[in-house]
Amino acid sequence: VTTAHVAPVKLSSRVRADTEAPNTLGVAMRDDAIFFGSGVPDPRFHPADVMEQALDALLSVSTTESLNYCRGRGDATLRTLIAERSLREGVRTSADDVVITAGSSGAFTLLAYTLVEPGDVVLVEELSYPGVLAMFRQAGAELVPVALDQDGLVIESLEEVVTTLARRGATPKLLYAIANTQSPTTSRLADDRRSAIAALAERFGFLIVQDDTYGELWYEGEQPGSLRRYDTERTVHVGSFSKTVAPGLRLGWFTGPGAIAEVIANMRTDLGTSTLIQRMIASMMGDGYFDAHLERVAASYRGKRDLLLAALDEHCGDLVRCVEPPGGFFLWVTFDEPLAGNVERLAYEEGVAFLSGSYFDVRGGRVVPAFRLAFGELAEDDLFEGAVRLGRVMRRSVDEVVRS
Ligand SMILES: Cc1ncc(COP(=O)(O)O)c(C=O)c1O
Repeated sequence: VTTAHVAPVKLSSRVRADTEAPNTLGVAMRDDAIFFGSGVPDPRFHPADVMEQALDALLSVSTTESLNYCRGRGDATLRTLIAERSLREGVRTSADDVVITAGSSGAFTLLAYTLVEPGDVVLVEELSYPGVLAMFRQAGAELVPVALDQDGLVIESLEEVVTTLARRGATPKLLYAIANTQSPTTSRLADDRRSAIAALAERFGFLIVQDDTYGELWYEGEQPGSLRRYDTERTVHVGSFSKTVAPGLRLGWFTGPGAIAEVIANMRTDLGTSTLIQRMIASMMGDGYFDAHLERVAASYRGKRDLLLAALDEHCGDLVRCVEPPGGFFLWVTFDEPLAGNVERLAYEEGVAFLSGSYFDVRGGRVVPAFRLAFGELAEDDLFEGAVRLGRVMRRSVDEVVRS
């Protein structure tokens, strides 16, 4: 939306003239381009047959409940299964602390609506997921960036930011953090930083909201899990079935302090998410299918990661640096700043597309000499060919910079 007036109505003041649709990727590309932009799982992993069986079973008995509304927190069986997974991780959680939402986005929408008032400060990683940033902005929040390095959020930066805010009499409402496989940088927040963040949250009185949309797609060492491990009363953990099963299910959840779960369950006006889909997923989790599926897909993404890393190393290893992600399906590729000016144009010419680093920049307007490659849905041939084209892009970029 580029105007606050759309005939015949005047739009609400929440629609800002500068608001861009955050989910419209808007990347210019040729028809034959290999598109590394979209953060969706491999469609070959959609477990359609298992879903069909689960749905058949649900529809072959009384549908009085499964086709009715599912208000409040959501389906009790699914919430119990999610709470049990948290318990397995050592986080004290009951089914009453869990709220089922329309994807993780649904959780953030509800959290922003119930927690954030115009003028509230929301702390965010300096490069972050624009979709959730837009929700906080729409709620009227002032977004204050915190620095990131290869080990995730930088504690000194967080401390400096909250101390400066305290001097002006402001307390941040919450910190939004993608602690496991950070998007876009793919870092894993170091363990000592996790406890340090919890300590700062307690000292300065803010809530931690962890976006763990990709956390279950883990393939490198032990899965670090929920930040609630450090403080259950000050942390909300948000999960999703979008990346592990399928985004079209629109199913996610959050676990948090029971009092927040209760307020949100009472305040929500969407009448819940699909009962049938909740029950379908509960049946896939209850019989062990879901865990086996997670193992299979994580192993496959690991294979794709290694393939893409090796191919990039071969075609432009001397010109780019790749962070090896511990999970998920993104690769964060950085390069020397002088090249940033022409990489996107050359990518267009060479038939390859991605989201450039600046797309994720909270401040906006900065040069971020990096791009994020989403490799989830691409087949192996496309990963190889994509790396060849990226190699040509980087080489031509250097040539142009040298010549200019
Ligand atoms: C970091 C991050 N958070 C949240 C979401 C929203 O996911 P969903 O609402 O489908 O669960 C996405 C989607 O791409 C994402 O990348």
